[in-house]
Amino acid sequence: MRCEIIKGNCEEYLKQAPAEIFDLTFLDPPFNQGKDYNSYNDKMPPSEYWEWMQRVCKLIYDHTSAGGAIYFMQREKNTQSVLDCLHKTGWNFQNLIIWQKKTSAVPIKKGFGKHYQIIAYFTKGKKPRVFNKLRINPPRLVTEKYERKTGMFVTDVWDDIRELTSGYFAGQEPFRTPGGQRLHKQQSPVQLLLRIILSSSKIGDLIFDPFAGTGTTLVVAKQLMRNAVGIEIDESYVNLIKQRLSMLRASDNILRYRVDYLFTRNLDEIWLVECKQKKSAIENQKSVIKRYIRKGEEKSQFMQYRIFDRSKQKKD
Ligand SMILES: C[S@@+](CC[C@H](N)C(=O)[O-])C[C@H]1O[C@@H](n2cnc3c(N)ncnc32)[C@H](O)[C@@H]1O
Repeated sequence: MRCEIIKGNCEEYLKQAPAEIFDLTFLDPPFNQGKDYNSYNDKMPPSEYWEWMQRVCKLIYDHTSAGGAIYFMQREKNTQSVLDCLHKTGWNFQNLIIWQKKTSAVPIKKGFGKHYQIIAYFTKGKKPRVFNKLRINPPRLVTEKYERKTGMFVTDVWDDIRELTSGYFAGQEPFRTPGGQRLHKQQSPVQLLLRIILSSSKIGDLIFDPFAGTGTTLVVAKQLMRNAVGIEIDESYVNLIKQRLSMLRASDNILRYRVDYLFTRNLDEIWLVECKQKKSAIENQKSVIKRYIRKGEEKSQFMQYRIFDRSKQKKD
């Protein structure tokens, strides 16, 4: 399996690597909002920024397999520009995903507080080459009368993945300086990349991250047995990624999320794990579930996991 981090400018890299063909790209560029990056000016004139994004999206398009996918993440205020950028560079629209934040909304003076980020999912050609319909089983809402028997399909609103913001809420996953500050202000959660890679790729596919940051895409792709290439301009982040890939931290281990997708029909095909790992993932999850579900329902929920047999699930 290939898992490569390259130090450099993604645009230059794409121009010089004609043979690379990617099946899935996660595009999480700097958002041009004046964030404090080590080696990058995050405050360009908007027209310059969007021209740059168009050049990058076109180059990625040229390096993508037929039906291959791109997930372009941005601030909600830039939705129109993201959609225009992808349309203009040849991509076909599939979904506009709303990633709802768990922490409090960003207040604005006149208007509603901002509580989500967008992820535009497009493909090269009308039909995706791969799309795995994932099923999840979030805690039952008070409006839902019955326990779900086989979970539910993931929709285009993702409200079950928490962002890695500052403070105790972000937990162990964000890298920190010795003083406790987050090392990279835009580190994506492992859970987010897990959902994207599981949905839009198969084992052995090649995943691309042109703005690798802390290497979340690579660390998830590697565990899912996908090949991966990441480009990062900042040397200190490149070194961090190398270190992150060399020894898997507990907080980067995707196994604890496996039980969330247990009702997915082809889960064993798209996410290979050893039998004993499966067991420990379920054990792990029990403590998490306990916190969520109302007293008295725990037993039925655990029973549900135990009795569920994917081979008997009807094809959708
Ligand atoms: C929003 S962050 C990506 C965060 C990443 N998703 C993660 O999980 O850590 C964008 C990254 O792009 C890098 N960057 C900026 N310009 C670049 C360029 N031209 N080529 C490659 N990387 C670049 C920045 O240094 C920054 O780490």
